[in-house]
Amino acid sequence: VSWPCSVVVLGAGRLGCALRLALEAAGISVAAHWTRSTATAEAARSEGFDVVTGGFPEALRTADLVCLAVSDGALAGLSTALAASGLLESGRPAQGVTVLHHAGAADLGPLAPLSSLAPIGSLHPLVSVASRRTALAGGACAVEASDDATAQRIEELARRLSLHPLRWRGDRARYHAAACLVGNFPQALMAAAIRIFEEGGVDARAAREALGPLLLSASRNAVEREGGSAFSGPVVRGDVEVVRRHLSALDAPELADVEALYRAASKVAAVAVDGPRRELLEALLAEGR
Ligand SMILES: NC(=O)c1ccc[n+]([C@@H]2O[C@H](COP(=O)([O-])OP(=O)(O)OC[C@H]3O[C@@H](n4cnc5c(N)ncnc54)[C@H](OP(=O)(O)O)[C@@H]3O)[C@@H](O)[C@H]2O)c1
Repeated sequence: VSWPCSVVVLGAGRLGCALRLALEAAGISVAAHWTRSTATAEAARSEGFDVVTGGFPEALRTADLVCLAVSDGALAGLSTALAASGLLESGRPAQGVTVLHHAGAADLGPLAPLSSLAPIGSLHPLVSVASRRTALAGGACAVEASDDATAQRIEELARRLSLHPLRWRGDRARYHAAACLVGNFPQALMAAAIRIFEEGGVDARAAREALGPLLLSASRNAVEREGGSAFSGPVVRGDVEVVRRHLSALDAPELADVEALYRAASKVAAVAVDGPRRELLEALLAEGR
């Protein structure tokens, strides 16, 4: 019998709904989709998701997978409430129930209240889920579980959802910080560049249109090329003079945050430079404002 047969999703925010769509697209039925607040339920319903509120759904009694798609800070409390509900104890299918969370920065600690009732695990999609209808397919995901057999089942599930599983061993917050660098900060880089363009008389919309193709081509290089060959620009060319002029152009109180960002990113890029120019660059970048 393929697992899972009957899924309950708790949480109808962006990830809860996107996950539900991914499950259903893979032919896995969602028996119940619950969320705590009526406001979130209404928002999800307006986007076409049938979501319930109130007490936990009875479908938990026969579910073989429960997905806790709630904010990181709500996981421990929800696990405690779920354990206390008694719904995971009665009338279980032969295989039992598995409970997952989907948080990037959390290990399995928040699910500890459930660990005597069910195998526990996590599946964190490395996808920027900006809306309830964001497709997860094609992304990678970190998988962790209370035992190896459960981890293997979650990996199989991931593959059915067209997610590429990876196992992370180590500090989850560090893993998630790395994911955020790539998933969240291109937008920060874009926002900083737009601010500077606006000062030069280019409005925000025109700036975004002008910088967009540049960001996309740089992203493509970062994804498709290895090591130093992924970079372009004065840092990686070892052009100390241009970098010096950039730093002095950014040396203004209203650009202090952008200058710090430029310096920090340049330090990371400078590792791709060979020879004495690297030392010159590193010395320049280490200078205080
Ligand atoms: N968005 C992403 O890009 C992304 C990607 C990968 C993983 N994740 C993970 O997915 C999880 C959910 O994130 P999201 O982006 O879907 O956030 P979201 O859109 O803000 O939704 C948050 C959900 O958490 C629920 N919630 C908050 N506090 C709760 C509580 N005390 N008790 C019960 N439910 C509570 C909310 O339900 P009510 O509003 O009904 O209370 C809502 O369903 C997080 O662990 C996040 O790390 C997100």
